[in-house]
Amino acid sequence: MKKILTLALLPTLMFTFGCGNQKDAAPTAAAPTSTSTAEAAPTAGKKILVTYYSWGGNTKYVAEEVAKKVNGDLVEIIPTTPYPTDYRACTEQAKTEINNNFKAPINTKIDNFNDYDVVFIGYPNWWGTMPPPIATFIGSYNFTGKTIVPFYTHGGGGVQRCDSDLKRNIPNAKFENYLLLSGSSVRSSDREITSWIDGLKF
Ligand SMILES: Cc1cc2nc3c(=O)[nH]c(=O)nc-3n(C[C@H](O)[C@H](O)[C@H](O)COP(=O)(O)O)c2cc1C
Repeated sequence: MKKILTLALLPTLMFTFGCGNQKDAAPTAAAPTSTSTAEAAPTAGKKILVTYYSWGGNTKYVAEEVAKKVNGDLVEIIPTTPYPTDYRACTEQAKTEINNNFKAPINTKIDNFNDYDVVFIGYPNWWGTMPPPIATFIGSYNFTGKTIVPFYTHGGGGVQRCDSDLKRNIPNAKFENYLLLSGSSVRSSDREITSWIDGLKF
């Protein structure tokens, strides 16, 4: 995240500014990765999955930190067709897809999803809501009875509809308080991430 988006007035401002760390744009993992370097364990006794989608690397950074701290399995949601690496092209495509309620096909498959008690879901704010691969992911699994722990990154617009849309689309789960970080601050947010995790109630 090199430049901060200022989206308070008009979403079109997004076309003017860049975001994301392009070198991190390529997805790197499709299978669950167990992490072993837990720094805190408020989550003992629960089986925890940390899922995320990240275009530019900010949300990926947070997801990796969270997975380490909660000793969770880390799974990246990978679209079958990667989004353009060009920021403007990505925003244009995303706008069309979101406006059309498009469910972007994903490569990620979690065979043991039912084993998890707690599912962290992280994504960047895209046009005020969730990126289409996340819409596909949450529509592909049964979250009934699970605890969902959301985390979001943004480029200046804040949470907007990220949290309400997630809740609306996962009706039968329990939701913990979300973590919201601006993309430009994720790499200096260790304390915030830790204190959010410490405050979780599950
Ligand atoms: C397609 C697209 C749409 C975006 N829309 C918004 C938005 O509506 N509001 C906002 O605050 N940031 C928006 N952003 C900025 C991202 O939310 C922000 O840079 C985020 O930290 C990127 O996370 P990532 O590096 O994990 O992809 C958008 C970025 C992209 C690529």
